Amino acid sequence: MGRRLHVLTWGCQMNVYDSARMSDALAPAGFGPAATPEEADLVILNTCHIREKAAEKLFSELGRLHRLKLARAAGGAPLRIAVAGCVAQAEGAEILARAPYVDFVLGPQTYHRLPALLARAEAGEAGVIDLEFPAEAKFDRLPASRGPAGLTAFLTIQEGCDKFCAFCVVPYTRGAESSRPAAAVLAEARALLARGAREITLLGQNVNAYHGEAPGAGTWDLARLLAALAELEGLERLRYTTSHPRDMTDGLIEAHRDIPALMPFLHLPVQSGSDRVLAAMNRGHDGGFYRALVGKLRAARPDLALSTDFIVGHPGESEADFEASLALAREIGFALAFSFKYSPRPGTPAAGRAEQVGEAEKERRLAALQAELRASQAAFNAGCVGRTLPVLLTGPGRHPGQLAGRSPYLQPVHLAAPAELLGRVVAVRITAALPNSLSATLEPERLCA
Ligand code: 5AD
Ligand code: SF4
Repeated sequence: MGRRLHVLTWGCQMNVYDSARMSDALAPAGFGPAATPEEADLVILNTCHIREKAAEKLFSELGRLHRLKLARAAGGAPLRIAVAGCVAQAEGAEILARAPYVDFVLGPQTYHRLPALLARAEAGEAGVIDLEFPAEAKFDRLPASRGPAGLTAFLTIQEGCDKFCAFCVVPYTRGAESSRPAAAVLAEARALLARGAREITLLGQNVNAYHGEAPGAGTWDLARLLAALAELEGLERLRYTTSHPRDMTDGLIEAHRDIPALMPFLHLPVQSGSDRVLAAMNRGHDGGFYRALVGKLRAARPDLALSTDFIVGHPGESEADFEASLALAREIGFALAFSFKYSPRPGTPAAGRAEQVGEAEKERRLAALQAELRASQAAFNAGCVGRTLPVLLTGPGRHPGQLAGRSPYLQPVHLAAPAELLGRVVAVRITAALPNSLSATLEPERLCA
């Protein structure tokens, strides 16, 4: 008892969620949190493999931990090191070969087996490794989280992906698409709300492909699940991420019209504006489909803010293809966007293609696209100035006497407000737009909830 765990997390929100659940898994074994590796008995590196330099980052961190482990062994208090997440899934055996001081390696689907894996390592077994995709549902076998939840909580409802975009490693590291039963999701949401959460973001690599077992017979899709979640006592706000354009059903579009708790913000990766590149990416949609979808969404919810991901320099992307991405970005006017240079992921179809784009060209295209996307984000933020928006206050602001929160469109908002408003949704008047956040003043007579 009385041992301490430090989890270092890279990558997406799903990894953040997984890290919290790994801590839950080890709580019954007596593990509490350690703020740093130096204070820990067990360090877990929860890795991400989606883009560049994942392995280099991992091995440089492992080198540091190895030195710590050696220093600690001399003092008699062992430090154990585990590698989890998508790099573990993709390169588990190599990790153990290159860093034999790693005590155990586990993939994203076996976190519920953490206590057993640790016990094997502690019993002296070397090179413990579990990269299975077991049939049992890991989340439903993990102990419940304890302690207060954040005001904004994440809840993984779906994992894996069957889309096989040519550039993407996710279908290999996270496996086939699977959805948690609706009853399990509702139970976890109720528990989060009871522990203080006001906003819940549903997570999944392909979250809008959700098709979980219904509480009665049959299955629920995401629209049905959102409607049920919106009924829960204490829930102020719902969000979900990340969505594939092909899975934006009419029912889900209508949910954006009909469910007030569902925030008017949607992350909908497009990846490219060129039909040729979208086909090479095996995205299953073209630019016309995406534009029409955005039209339907905006008809259903006129103030919907859109966010997206772009990749530049996918194999075969010509200058004209790249310009089609720029044109699409300009046309849609994204409120937020993430853009990346294509990075070959070993084992994916695009990695083996002959027509790779040079590094300097990728850099140039990324800079040009990011300038466009920054301008569009700035325009969106500037358009909010003078508006009154409901803001969920989630923490201290930059300066004393300030609180910070999020607008419905996920913009960080800073304003002078008394600390007792923390956790409330308040009406604020937006007074200024900064590149990545908004300043506001409280509209005292118009508290929302
Ligand atoms: N290279 C660059 N970006 C990638 N992404 C996924 N795989 C790659 C890759 N091989 C980006 C996509 C995806 C986001 C999470 O990461 O834009 O939507
Ligand atoms: Fe990767 Fe494509 Fe699946 Fe998204 S939809 S996780 S980009 S394969």
